[in-house]
Amino acid sequence: MGSRSATADRARTGDPAPDGPLLRIHDLRRGFTVSGTTIDVLKGCSMEVARGEVVAVVGQSGSGKSTLLNILGLLDGADSGEHVFNGLEVPRLGEGRRARLRNEGIGFVFQQFHLLERRTALANVCVPMVLAGVPLVRRRAIARELLESMGLGHRLSSRPHQLSGGEQQRVALARALSLNPPLILADEPTGALDAASSEMIMDQLLGQARTRGAAVIVVTHDPEVAARADRVVTITDGRTR
Ligand SMILES: Nc1ncnc2c1ncn2[C@@H]1O[C@H](COP(=O)(O)OP(=O)(O)OP(=O)(O)O)[C@@H](O)[C@H]1O
Ligand SMILES: [Mg+2]
Repeated sequence: MGSRSATADRARTGDPAPDGPLLRIHDLRRGFTVSGTTIDVLKGCSMEVARGEVVAVVGQSGSGKSTLLNILGLLDGADSGEHVFNGLEVPRLGEGRRARLRNEGIGFVFQQFHLLERRTALANVCVPMVLAGVPLVRRRAIARELLESMGLGHRLSSRPHQLSGGEQQRVALARALSLNPPLILADEPTGALDAASSEMIMDQLLGQARTRGAAVIVVTHDPEVAARADRVVTITDGRTR
């Protein structure tokens, strides 16, 4: 095992690697207070996700899908409820540990790609590896290999604005995979793409996750995307069903 994996494994799991589901949430709640009024968005979300499982999250606009994904991605915290990721009780983690887990244990793909505009495709893929301390030569080799495996070997030096939407999303997916995290979170990853690019991104996302044994939670409005998941979770009235 190389130093990259050892670092990532420690950050993801703590020691030793736990048995049981990769992710468990129970009765998770989150509200937002705006101008003195509190809106309860998540009113009791519960689910378990096994290692390597693909789960689609669906629900009406405004039902709280992104709110839930942000909590699962450790970008936001729940007000109450259980949240265990890879054997770690998330609410008990300090900020440093949480930040490292977010970077090394979870890969993110967003509808709007969120690439760094002034950086090349290769440099964008390297970002999580820079934060994780992967040495320069190694991270460039990993990024190149990932981009080549996604058919972007000829685009390593391109900036995001020089790439199509589908190409940008492949770069974002390569970035999400670069530290080989056990969980990929995707918030409407095909929402800004045409049908052909959507299919290609889903092929890549699911194929790469399967190869690596990573679980995927994908928020989507697209029935064709949801149909490719092992399981569909619906958010209705702030609760998972
Ligand atoms: N930071 C915030 N402050 C206040 N309200 C928020 C905040 N984040 C989300 N909300 C509210 O929470 C509700 C759920 O938002 P969320 O973005 O999770 O919905 P969604 O299911 O992802 O919708 P969409 O399908 O349109 O993306 C909305 O009413 C939204 O206005
Ligand atoms: Mg959303």
